[in-house]
Amino acid sequence: MTATLIDGKAIAETVKAQVKEGVAYLKSEYNLTPGLATVLVGERPDSRAYVASKQKSCAELGMNSFGHTLPADIPQNELLEIVQGLARDSQVHGILAQLPLPNHIDAEAILGAVPIEKDVDGFSPLNVGRLSMKNREPMFVPCTPLGCLQLIESTGTQIEGARAVVLGRSNIVGLPMAFLLLHRNATVTICHSRTRDLPDIVRQADIVVAAIGKTRFVPGDWIKPGAVVIDVGINEVPDATKKSGKRLVGDVDFDSVKEVAGFITPVPGGVGPMTIAMLMQNTLTAAQRAAGLLKP
Ligand code: GUN
Repeated sequence: MTATLIDGKAIAETVKAQVKEGVAYLKSEYNLTPGLATVLVGERPDSRAYVASKQKSCAELGMNSFGHTLPADIPQNELLEIVQGLARDSQVHGILAQLPLPNHIDAEAILGAVPIEKDVDGFSPLNVGRLSMKNREPMFVPCTPLGCLQLIESTGTQIEGARAVVLGRSNIVGLPMAFLLLHRNATVTICHSRTRDLPDIVRQADIVVAAIGKTRFVPGDWIKPGAVVIDVGINEVPDATKKSGKRLVGDVDFDSVKEVAGFITPVPGGVGPMTIAMLMQNTLTAAQRAAGLLKP
């Protein structure tokens, strides 16, 4: 192995410790407890697990979490009313509607009901629009790409002038990731399922962010020696040695990529914990703004 492992778990713990201090200060000086509302619709085990770990982190850091677990067949108008109620609730500083929502739900309308000052996921078109423009500040940056950026920065790699390749163009990860890197003066290429000569493009990258949801899609011989490789993928594969019979792997073929890359994130223990840490940070920011301590 030549690559240095980027310990997302440890970096996330440092961020969460700072958030915990901020929460304690708000409580003692302003009698205000930051609160995150989670809205989970349906039974998807992965979504359930993500929401549970977000709520657990809230508890660890001294924040309130208000969990709404709703049946998969909830009508659109009922779900909308719940989110509108959370929008009015002064104890709720951040609202997170776990995606994906069921097919019969108009996700755009639900996300649109989250006021921008409570949009701790950073998913509203207004936030994304601001993020995509020069010299505009979004209220919140989406948690996963923000966490990826911190992991890249933790390596000490110079982002300015670097060639960065983002694999995937989702609204949640790929697109905002590309803009974050662009704003730090990287030369960014966004690749997707229709990209031609993909291996040759990835081979030019000093920084690779893989967010395509395909198991071990990126092999070691696509990687420029010394590159920083951030693996956003969370894919289940069978593993008879585990009690559960399965384990998680990324979008990157860790075993071959680690022999070539300079730095690499593991799965699990890389990007995942950072996403949650950034959500906690965004929720604290929302509460600090509500208390008038930070400008929007
Ligand atoms: N589904 C997958 N990732 C995310 C996320 O970061 N936030 C929400 N709300 N849903 C998701």
